[in-house]
Amino acid sequence: MAKTIIISNRLPVQLQIENGHITATPSVGGLATGMKSVHSGSDSLWIGWSGLTKENIPKELEPKIDKALREHGCSKVSLTEEEIEGFYFGFSNRTIWPLFHYFLEYSEFESASWETFKAVNQKFADAILKNSKDDDVIWVHDYQLMLVPEMVKAKRPNAAIGFFLHVPFPSYEIFRTLPWRKEILRGLLGADLIGFHTYDYERHFLSSVRRLLGLEVSFNEINVDDRVIKVDSFPMGIDYKKFSNAAKVHQKNTTENQSELQRRLNVHKESTPDAKLILSIDRLDYSKGIAKRLKAFEYFLNKFPEYKEKVRLIILAVPSRSNVPQYQLLKKEIDELVGRINGEFSTVSWTPIWYFYRSMPFENLIDLYTSSDIALLTPIRDGMNLVAKEYIATRTDKTGVLILSEMAGSANEMNESLLINPNNFDQIADALIQAINMPKEEQMARNTILQKRLERYNVEKWANDFMKSLLEQRETTHQYI
Ligand code: UDP
Ligand code: G6P
Repeated sequence: MAKTIIISNRLPVQLQIENGHITATPSVGGLATGMKSVHSGSDSLWIGWSGLTKENIPKELEPKIDKALREHGCSKVSLTEEEIEGFYFGFSNRTIWPLFHYFLEYSEFESASWETFKAVNQKFADAILKNSKDDDVIWVHDYQLMLVPEMVKAKRPNAAIGFFLHVPFPSYEIFRTLPWRKEILRGLLGADLIGFHTYDYERHFLSSVRRLLGLEVSFNEINVDDRVIKVDSFPMGIDYKKFSNAAKVHQKNTTENQSELQRRLNVHKESTPDAKLILSIDRLDYSKGIAKRLKAFEYFLNKFPEYKEKVRLIILAVPSRSNVPQYQLLKKEIDELVGRINGEFSTVSWTPIWYFYRSMPFENLIDLYTSSDIALLTPIRDGMNLVAKEYIATRTDKTGVLILSEMAGSANEMNESLLINPNNFDQIADALIQAINMPKEEQMARNTILQKRLERYNVEKWANDFMKSLLEQRETTHQYI
């Protein structure tokens, strides 16, 4: 029977070896958390990197590692430290990530890492060819693997290949600065269906294809030789039931089975019942606007001093790509900002910012989402931002206010939240005032609409829509041939 082959750089689990024992932890990030639900509910194989490099896997543990991955429906692509350096920390996260998020000044254009990127993409393509049959459906994910569709198509022209980009596709004016822009476009065009989170990203891509490759684009189809490639937008949803059910269960917990974190949150709520908890959760990434958010919070406290001791900002920043210098600098900046703001405003009974630099298990994310009156998510650029959707899904009593950057892909579907420009501190401060004082009825009215939409356009529907469109596209292409 035909199956679906999912390919992404990062597998849904990350392996560690401690004292000869293999442990697996869930991966962080929207791709992993979203696709995990799709993967677990279907007959699919997920191919990717296990988080370990060849050098730190003892030979005798290889079979155990393969077995551990097989238990999760996964198969690994083995990468060396040098490959991880050039492909992952290098071209993927020092060239493409900053460029596609409009941080042009952070983008490095180095031929050596481009060469490694090509070689590692070929490794992923080979792993697909080795692990799949002719009629399997191949679904490639994200910016680290943009050359894979062309590499697979070259060897297996009749395979149905879909590609989904989880980050923004930048405007032509930005994309054209990439020295290897044509190679990247040709790589993507190996797919039969190319999906983006929003219509804007789709438009940017089509414009680059037309202007850089001179190909014929009619509406959302591209003609290449005897093939027709479809391009479309599929805004990714969340596993709505998983979050709303977890929140319902959480509500019923008695003090004995509550987490340590929840107990701390309770103490805060009981000691200052009028004070509002404001939450933000992101990977520690410059695209997420964490430093600006802290400055905006400081601006708010200065502009509206009457709210001192009446608000508390919880920042959960998950360590990410810490080998890349920009991420190290950002970590330092955030540490300093938190220290400065807490130093300036704290009183004996109040610390304005609680800062966690770690990842948290699912149960604790639910503690945070359900305990916070406001979610403040201010990315400077974000392909989608699933945290915004998860926050709303956990609000079982429909209260809670979402303040969301208009630069996040999810803002397109979340008009009932308070949309802000992350560079406009006055607007953020005003949105905070509006959120703090928003009547319950208004919160509930806004969230009722948001919840209905998120429940309907959940991650399962997203995956089904993509798959349906891919299979239709393959049928059409076969008719042409
Ligand atoms: N997340 C997680 N552990 C944490 C914090 C966050 O698994 O400690 C998850 C969160 O629930 C969400 C994802 O990481 O599903 C972040 O996705 P988002 O689209 O917001 O941003 P990305 O990291 O993909 O840029
Ligand atoms: C974003 C990207 C994913 C990536 C995730 C975590 O969601 O779109 O492809 O996996 O961030 O980043 P990392 O570099 O740790 O895989």
